[in-house]
Amino acid sequence: MDKKYIILLLATCFVFAYCSKEETSMLSQTPYFFNLPPGVENPRVPSDNTMTMEKIALGKMLFFDPMLSRDSTIACASCHIQSLAFVDNKTFSLGVYDSVGFRNALSLTNVAYNNLFFWDGGVPSLELQVIAPIESPFEMNNVLDSVIEKLKTHPYYSERFLEVFGRPVDKVSFTQSIATFERTLISFNSPFDKYHYYNETTLNEAQIRGKDLFFSSRTNCSNCHSLPNFTNNGFANNGLYEVYTDMGRRRVTVQFNDDALFKIPTLRNVARTAPYMHDGSLPNLEAVVVHYNSGGSNHFNKSSLVKPLNLTAQEQADLIAFLESLTDDEFINNSSFRP
Ligand code: HEC
Ligand code: HEC
Repeated sequence: MDKKYIILLLATCFVFAYCSKEETSMLSQTPYFFNLPPGVENPRVPSDNTMTMEKIALGKMLFFDPMLSRDSTIACASCHIQSLAFVDNKTFSLGVYDSVGFRNALSLTNVAYNNLFFWDGGVPSLELQVIAPIESPFEMNNVLDSVIEKLKTHPYYSERFLEVFGRPVDKVSFTQSIATFERTLISFNSPFDKYHYYNETTLNEAQIRGKDLFFSSRTNCSNCHSLPNFTNNGFANNGLYEVYTDMGRRRVTVQFNDDALFKIPTLRNVARTAPYMHDGSLPNLEAVVVHYNSGGSNHFNKSSLVKPLNLTAQEQADLIAFLESLTDDEFINNSSFRP
């Protein structure tokens, strides 16, 4: 038989065996469906990590479990707190032994829609992202292999992994389950969403004026913070400093052109996520609006979209009122995101 054909055949068998294995182990499981406003597309879910209620429940337990950290004191949920839209209220988060990191925590609101993770976009998938905090000396200060070993002999988790993935826990199933839970952290029920997607009268006059300003070419806010998630998923310099201590995206790409570019963060639930910016240097939304109104400092990479705005005091207050309308209380109180 032709060698190429054999290879093709083997490959097909492999794919088939893999798929059917996935299917049988999934057969007894309940699929998860995203509940999104009209016109909003589903986030991309990797084909080898389909969403089921059972996998989500397992990932959620791990997300809240301090067992993942070296001294069993810190869980993902220690720094990603639901009432704060899954950030903490610190400038820099505290890890095990009170070690201090160097960046402000990022919200996990609608994180399923992101393509690149961290302020510098250094991680390309939600599955891979799970490893970073576990191994970071500033966060959980652990080793992934020891976490897996611990879970293998754990009376409860070892059974659950067998049930959900049809095999003993390994790095793949471990990271997949946590990523799957994170993909369910969907927020589209803020007063703004009800107004925008469902034509409800949930915004007051100040918020409507602020919204019009936000989406206007006078402020350019929505060029970077665009719908549906108030981010275009890109990286930019918004003129926070003339000289940065953090190289931002350049840390990852080693390109001078990427110097001091940072992830354009979502603004969903932003009233809950103070302090602001990659280094948590702005304490509240007033300070953020003062920053943008001034046009910022002149870093060579500053976007031309950030320039002095000459907003009146009323307009600045309206912009803040609008940002406050992005708080989704149903998301913040959703009991399915709790242990
Ligand atoms: C000690 C506090 C701390 C712990 C513990 C922690 N995180 Fe984070 N998380 C952060 C900080 C700070 C950032 C931003 C880091 C950066 O950009 O360099 C972040 C960023 C993220 C992001 C990126 C979001 C985006 O849009 O780019 C995800 C996802 C995330 N964390 C998930 C997790 C998961 C899952 C765990 C547990 C396995 C975890 N975190 C544990 C503090 C923490
Ligand atoms: C050129 C793109 C761009 C424009 C225009 C822009 N932003 Fe930003 N925005 C960013 C980036 C990048 C960051 C993060 C910068 C950093 O951490 O150093 C950010 C951060 C923020 C934050 C902090 C979010 C957090 O979680 O820390 C708020 C709030 C915000 N922007 C609101 C606005 C408003 C309001 C406008 C319009 C007046 C605006 N932005 C215009 C790119 C932009």
